Amino acid sequence: MLNRKKSSKNALPPGKYRMGGEHFKDDAAFIKTAVKDVKRLEKYAGLTAQSNLYDWGCGAGRLAVGVREHFGRVADYHGVDIQPEVLGWAEQNLSAPGFRFTLVNVSNERYNPDGSPERTLAAEPGSVDVFYAYSVFSHMNDEDTPAYLRLIHEALAPGGMAFVTCFVEEDVPGWEENPEGYGPLDWKGRLHCTRFARWHFEDHVNAARLAVSRFEYGQETDGQSLYVLRKR
Ligand SMILES: C[S@@+](CC[C@H](N)C(=O)[O-])C[C@H]1O[C@@H](n2cnc3c(N)ncnc32)[C@H](O)[C@@H]1O
Repeated sequence: MLNRKKSSKNALPPGKYRMGGEHFKDDAAFIKTAVKDVKRLEKYAGLTAQSNLYDWGCGAGRLAVGVREHFGRVADYHGVDIQPEVLGWAEQNLSAPGFRFTLVNVSNERYNPDGSPERTLAAEPGSVDVFYAYSVFSHMNDEDTPAYLRLIHEALAPGGMAFVTCFVEEDVPGWEENPEGYGPLDWKGRLHCTRFARWHFEDHVNAARLAVSRFEYGQETDGQSLYVLRKR
């Protein structure tokens, strides 16, 4: 279990931080979604207690909470984000043997507009058994997306798998920002919702020398789809 004290220091971070706070209204919902995802990583991407697990756009470390609840720990959980407040919270409250967090100052128009244009995952090439990116490509432009897919290919170990979510639809333009009338929310501000045509996202996947192992349409947050990717 999480070591949760009554002080505000250890309460889960307030929804004002940009990490999908609307969807995780209380601690119990936050933990439940995390454990569910860890079990799906086990089933679809081969996650075990011996895995090196990389959590891209980890926010406040939701997945780390799930790993702790379900496995205790894995060989290496590495959470990476570009927002100092949420990453700082995770680092302060969830760092432990087997759990580490890295802040990278790279640019994303929504979350870190003044960051560096030099993209990095801060991962050793060939080191990641299971790569997780939940609601990250759903806030990404159409130049960063293929570039990061190539970096994911580079970071994955042989046989490694990536579990990612994004908005994809048939018969829509290749890439769109905040498409009007789409999904359950009134999209506001840069990259609140980025939607890909399915063929376009899968072209990026192929160009990055990745292949689709599993596709589930529309069942994730706000109607995102799930891709499980492997190295080609
Ligand atoms: C909607 S939140 C999802 C948080 C978390 N994955 C979850 O499901 O609880 C998107 C996260 O991606 C992070 N992010 C966006 N671009 C990133 C990048 N290039 N590198 C690392 N993190 C990034 C944001 O800072 C934000 O915390």
